[in-house]
Amino acid sequence: MTKQKPEFWESIFSEKQEMWGFEPSISAMLTKDLFVSHSLKNILIPGIGYGRNARIFLEQGMAVTGIEISKTAIDLAEKHFGTDLLIHHGSVTDMPFEHQQYDGIFCHALIHLLDSSERAKMISDCYHQLAPGGYMVFSAISKKAHTYGQGPMISEDRYEIFDGVKMYFYDTASVHAAFDIAGLYEISEVEDSFPFFLIKCRKGKVAL
Ligand SMILES: C[S@@+](CC[C@H](N)C(=O)[O-])C[C@H]1O[C@@H](n2cnc3c(N)ncnc32)[C@H](O)[C@@H]1O
Repeated sequence: MTKQKPEFWESIFSEKQEMWGFEPSISAMLTKDLFVSHSLKNILIPGIGYGRNARIFLEQGMAVTGIEISKTAIDLAEKHFGTDLLIHHGSVTDMPFEHQQYDGIFCHALIHLLDSSERAKMISDCYHQLAPGGYMVFSAISKKAHTYGQGPMISEDRYEIFDGVKMYFYDTASVHAAFDIAGLYEISEVEDSFPFFLIKCRKGKVAL
C-alpha cells in the first residue's frame, strides 16, 4: 500500500486547523474565471480540505461537491459552509463516490501526492466524471520547486520530502504524458507558494 495514510492529514488538520486561511489559491481564482467564462454550474473539488477554495465558486452560484480524506477538515468545512458544501469522506483513490457527472473539476495541490498508478487512476476517474463539454483543471507541483530532489528518492521524480509526504514533481513532458489522454489543451505556470503547473483539460461534446 503506497497511498498516503489518512492519519497524516488528520493530524495536520487537528493540530493546525484552517492553516492556509480563507484566501483562495491563485490556481482557484484562475480556474473560477475559466469556469465562469464557460457558464459551468456543477463543480467537483477532490482534496477540498476545509473548503478555502470553494467559496469563490459558491459565490458564482455554482454547486460544489468535494472529496476529502480528513474528517477533521470536513468538520471545519461544515462549520464554515454548512450545507452549501457536500463533501464525500474518503480517498480520491476510491473514486467514484457517486455516478454524478460534473461540468467542472478543480483539484489543487493533490495529484502530486499520489503514486504513479494512483495518479493515472485519478485522472481517468475525473475524466469519466466530467460531463461532455466539461473542463477540468489540476494544479501540480513543478520540478522548479526548491524541494525537488530533497529527501529519499522513491522513484523517478518522486521524493519523500519529509516524513510521510511523498511528492511527484512534474515537468511539461510528464504533464503531457499523463494528461494528453484526458483532453489536455493548455499548460501554464503559476506561483502559488510553490511553482505549480496549471493543467487544463476539456472533454469533447461528443464522446469519442
Ligand atoms: C496540499 S492540501 C490542499 C488542500 C486544498 N486543495 C486547498 O488548497 O485548500 C491536500 C488536500 O488533499 C487532501 N488529501 C490528501 N490525500 C488525499 C486523498 N488520497 N484523497 C482525498 N483527499 C486527500 C488533504 O487532506 C488536503 O486537504
